Amino acid sequence: MIPWKIALIGLGSVGRGIAQVLKDKSQFIIIAAADSKSGVVNPSGIDIEALLAKKKTTGHCGDPKWPASRIASEVDYDILIEVTPTNSVTGEPALTTIKTALLRSKHVVTSNKGPVSLASVELLRIAEEKNVGFLFEGTVAGAVPILRGIQYGLAGNKIKALYGVLNGTCNYILTRMEEESLTYEQALAEARDLGYAEANPASDIDGTDAAIKLVILANTMLGMSVKLDDVKRTGISGLTVAALHMANANGRSIRLIASLNPGKNTLEVSPRLLPKDNPLVVSGTLNAITVETEYAGAITFIGRGAGSVETASAILADLLFIADKYGR
Ligand SMILES: NC(=O)c1ccc[n+]([C@@H]2O[C@H](COP(=O)([O-])OP(=O)(O)OC[C@H]3O[C@@H](n4cnc5c(N)ncnc54)[C@H](OP(=O)(O)O)[C@@H]3O)[C@@H](O)[C@H]2O)c1
Repeated sequence: MIPWKIALIGLGSVGRGIAQVLKDKSQFIIIAAADSKSGVVNPSGIDIEALLAKKKTTGHCGDPKWPASRIASEVDYDILIEVTPTNSVTGEPALTTIKTALLRSKHVVTSNKGPVSLASVELLRIAEEKNVGFLFEGTVAGAVPILRGIQYGLAGNKIKALYGVLNGTCNYILTRMEEESLTYEQALAEARDLGYAEANPASDIDGTDAAIKLVILANTMLGMSVKLDDVKRTGISGLTVAALHMANANGRSIRLIASLNPGKNTLEVSPRLLPKDNPLVVSGTLNAITVETEYAGAITFIGRGAGSVETASAILADLLFIADKYGR
């Protein structure tokens, strides 16, 4: 068996998770890797553990002569995995990296929401023209196989509506406010301490992150053509413990729900009151998505929406899909 040659762009939380899950998968071999300052190339395979250890001690993984852009355009890889930070305004530099790889007829897998939410139609068109895979399961709900679940598991069903908890940080904060009577500020501080919230959590809290995921679902799974500005957004910073307690007293919980209705062309992210036994009332950092379908009724997907190996699980599934469909 000839292993698939991987170029791994980004060595943060998800990049490290990928290194971990690919360790004992002999059909994939990492031959190039890059962080923000440097890169490394070895056609016979990189010792990724040693590379990550080096990165931990020195702050960089290799040689500044091998930036991600050069790896994408010059190295002889089969699949490029793009896991650098999300830029939801321009998608860059990931958008250019991904386009470069696709135009070279290389397969691409990413968990980066920026390029997918901004340019999925164009990127999927290039991939089709070049007969390669462009897969992004990890961009929505981390480990939860929602994209493949809709595309293949629910194939042939019209999707009437879709709604869900797509941001684990907000869900954690709301859960802690509800269960422990923490104020919004206390719950946010706790989420930061535990590494669930970014240093700047603005895009989680104001609903932007969930809205970006909704755009990806709408455009790539439901045949819609929408952008971030089309999503009506209300975040959770205005919610008080009193409001959550009042909901609780009435047998309800408040969750930040992203919803879309293709028939009505409506997309919204806002806090909603839900009966406690609604499957979307999940705890902590979990994600949950209910899909209302024509034949299968309502189906809810629940699972870990983020995390290093959890997101790598989605990326591994994409890699195996490519190996299966385009196997040599
Ligand atoms: N973490 C999760 O649970 C999760 C879940 C789903 C989706 N995602 C998405 O997956 C992507 C990666 O997330 P993450 O948590 O792994 O991010 P992260 O921990 O911040 O790591 C990002 C990595 O990308 C590198 N990088 C930054 N700019 C680069 C550039 N121009 N060229 C090459 N490498 C560059 C960084 O380099 P340095 O090491 O030099 O800084 C770092 O190694 C993001 O788009 C995120 O939204 C994450």
